[in-house]
Formats: sequence, C-alpha cells, structure tokens
Amino acid sequence: MTALRKNSDFTGQKPQVAPARQPRLPRYTSYPTALQFGELDGRDHMAWLGDLPAEDPVSLYFHIPFCDQLCWFCGCYTHISNKYEPVKKYLESLLKELAWTSSLTGRRKVSHIHFGGGSPTILEAEDFERLMSVVQEAYEILPGAEIAVEVDPRTLSRDKVNAYGRCGVNRVSMGIQDFDEKVQKTINRIQSTELIESCLRWFKTVGIRNINFDLIYGLPNQTEATIRQTVLQTAFYKPSRIALFGYAHVPWMKKHQALIGAEMLPDQAQRQAMFDIASRTLVDCGYQAIGLDHFALPGDTLLDAHDRGTLRRNFQGYTADNADSLIGFGASAISSLPGGYAQNTTDMKAYHQQTGVGESPVVRGVKVTAADQLVRQLISDLMCYQQVDPEARAREFGQSYDFKREYAALGELLDAGYMEVKGSCFRITEAGSPYLRAICSVFDRYLPANFEKNPDILHRCLHESEG
Ligand SMILES: C[S@@+](CC[C@H](N)C(=O)[O-])C[C@H]1O[C@@H](n2cnc3c(N)ncnc32)[C@H](O)[C@@H]1O
Ligand code: SF4
Repeated sequence: MTALRKNSDFTGQKPQVAPARQPRLPRYTSYPTALQFGELDGRDHMAWLGDLPAEDPVSLYFHIPFCDQLCWFCGCYTHISNKYEPVKKYLESLLKELAWTSSLTGRRKVSHIHFGGGSPTILEAEDFERLMSVVQEAYEILPGAEIAVEVDPRTLSRDKVNAYGRCGVNRVSMGIQDFDEKVQKTINRIQSTELIESCLRWFKTVGIRNINFDLIYGLPNQTEATIRQTVLQTAFYKPSRIALFGYAHVPWMKKHQALIGAEMLPDQAQRQAMFDIASRTLVDCGYQAIGLDHFALPGDTLLDAHDRGTLRRNFQGYTADNADSLIGFGASAISSLPGGYAQNTTDMKAYHQQTGVGESPVVRGVKVTAADQLVRQLISDLMCYQQVDPEARAREFGQSYDFKREYAALGELLDAGYMEVKGSCFRITEAGSPYLRAICSVFDRYLPANFEKNPDILHRCLHESEG
C-alpha cells in the first residue's frame, strides 16, 4: 500500500437525506459497532468488570463533556457552560463512579489513561490533580504508562500545564482544526497562532514532548491552498502525531451544525483534493501516513506500533495502546471489555443520580461473542494495515468458518480492481482505498440487516464515496 491513500472518511454531504433511509457506514472504532448497541443491564457490565484477568493491565478513559464555547462543526458529546459549577458537580459524580468501579475491579495495573471530551482542559488545575490523585489511589499506574489529555488551547493556562506536569501527563492532543482565520471565523473557533505557540512553550517547560495536532479538512472556506498552508504551519511545529479528520456534517444529529449551511461545504471531489494535498504535504515534511487519517514522525509510538504490527483501533481512532480492556468513566463514556461494550448514559441528570446512589450508569452496549472477536480482528487488519488473511486469522482464533458470503463480495472487489490477492491474503489497492470502510463492511456480520436496501458491496462503496 502506498503511503498516499485516498481518504474514505467522507461523511454527511447530503443533510437532506434522512439517515434512517440511508444508514451510514461505521468507522469501525469498535466491533460490533455502536449500531448493534442495545439496552444493557448494568449487572452485565458489573460482571465483566469483576471478571477482568487479574494480572493484565487495563486502560482508563475519562470523558469531560464540557466546553466554554460551541464550535459549529462539533460532533462530540459535550455541554457548553460558561459557569464552573456544573463541571465541579460533574467531577464529584466522576469520582463516585471511579470509587464504585474500582471496588469491583480491585486495584488493577494501568498502562494508559486518556482524558477526552468535550474539553478536559476545562478542569481547573487543582481539580485535575485531585482526579489524578484518586486515580492513583484506586489503580496502580505502571511506570511508562501513557497519560494523555485532549487540549482546547483556548481553555489552557500555565497553571493547568504545570499541574499536568506534576501528574505525569506525557501526551497532549491539541485541537487545532485549521490555522486560517477565515475558516476559523466560519466555524466559530478562533484561536491565534500566538496562543498555540504559548501552549507549546508551556508543554516544553514541563517536559511534555509528545504532541498531537488534530486537523479537519472539508470545512467551509477551506481551499487546497489554505489547507496546504495549515499543514505546512503544522509541520513547522513538528507535532509527533497528526490526526487529519474529514469534517462529518450531520446536522440531523448535531442541530448546531446547521449553522454551517450545506451550500458552504466543499463537494466530494474538493474534499478528496484537500485530503490529497494535505497528506502529500505531510509526507513531504517527513510524516508517515497511518491507516485512514493519521500521520506520525519517526519515533512516535503510533508509528512504532504500526511497524511492529500491533496498531489497533479504539474509540479515539488509532492507538498504540495494547491493553485488552478499557474502562470508560463519565457521561456517554464507553468501556471496551473482554465481555463486551458498555456505554454510560448520556443523560447528565441520570448520570448524577446513578453515580450518587452507587449504581451502574451503563444503559447501552453489546456482548462480544467468540465469532465477533474474529471479525473484530479481520476488520482491524483492514483498518490498520489495508490487508487481511481471513483463513489464517480463523485458524489463529481456532474457528472454522467458510467465509462464503465474504469471498463472494471480495470477488466483486477484485473484479472492480479495488483489491488484489496473493495466496489467501487480500490487499486493498490504490483504487480501492477510498472505500476502506465499505471494504471492512464485507466482514461485518450484522451489517446486512442494517443495509437491507443496499446489501451488495459495490453499492456500499458507491454509497460511501458519495458520503
Ligand atoms: C473532543 S475534541 C478535542 C478537544 C477539544 N474539545 C478541542 O476541540 O480542542 C476531538 C476532536 O474531534 C474532532 N472533531 C470534532 N467534531 C468533528 C466533526 N464534526 N468532524 C470531524 N472531526 C471532528 C476535532 O478535530 C477535535 O479536535
Ligand atoms: S470541537 Fe472541542 S472545543 Fe469545540 S465544542 Fe467540540 S468538544 Fe468543545
């Protein structure tokens, strides 16, 4: 596979199409995907937590769903609050959930902690330190564990960065999105270059060297020239990792995105051209493309994981984290456990109530079967390495399965030139790369039910390329 791939993460070009009639292809950050989540009894979740293998390290994810201001493009689960009280109240509930969960899991070893949102940087310095000290009491943070924070530069301060330094934070993901002022204005996300440079200086002072930048293409007012400029400016700061997300415009789910009129958005061809120029520029600047939408410099752990063959998908996208269990804390957070996926309520009132009485805030999820585990691996192989050997994986998982339906679909992809085959290993070609998610969907044993109107693979590819 060449380093320069066409991106397939094109979503939401046609807000007028009812999503129920035209289901979207999953991003395969999990398998089974969120489409399969149904009601889940909190007792299942508790049993899964209790059953975690004693010696295996786990990962922790803390969701902080608060921001100061609404970015019009935002697709995240968050609440806008210009008062700190709701954040403070939320922290109390988060600490209760942490105490409740650790009473079930015992004091596990932890190899990875991620603070996501929303904007975790909204937490005052002393509150972040308090949360980390409770985490340290409840769990054994392993030496060398990655502790990562998603950063909204506009809510960061010197004080907060000092607190991160004291707490051992060693990776930050900065929400950059775009450096162009005109683009920033249209998405209600104004942040100056000076602000970004101050943040970088603060990180350097406390020794945080692993810096990620989040960029978005496909925004209004972006052109190939502006995105190239943003990417060049990004490369100038040498963040070790870059996520280049395609703007997902889903105003039927995120009503505020209607503030960005569909007529302002670039079309499919323009989006593709933006991705192409951005990725080419990054590669020219020494970055290596990873999977669907990530780039990293030599020495970054994501690139090491990629080269070692241990790269994985998780809810943040791609990860070097190789723990088999991730415990999610906070409203809307999802745990990924050997037994299954469990998602906390998104209803803030219910979250406070459940954690207040020491009950599980889990409301949705899905059990993971042995068959699901094999499919999860096959999809991960495609998402991370653009190739898959179904039979070899089935043998490895000790499962006999004929892949009849899958091979029929792969045959269509071979005929279309989207894949090539060597022995029993199927590899996505340059022509097939815009359809990565559609190609993964070949193995998704639940998808035919969700895609009754578009059951065949080439239709799905077409659907994906049309967004
Ligand atoms: C939780 S935010 C990061 C932290 C912080 N809230 C911020 O924005 O700086 C995670 C990332 O998701 C991406 N994102 C949010 N909404 C998106 C959308 N509709 N389409 C594509 N990417 C999106 C942005 O790049 C953002 O930096
Ligand atoms: S993009 Fe980030 S800062 Fe903006 S509203 Fe969404 S979560 Fe908050």
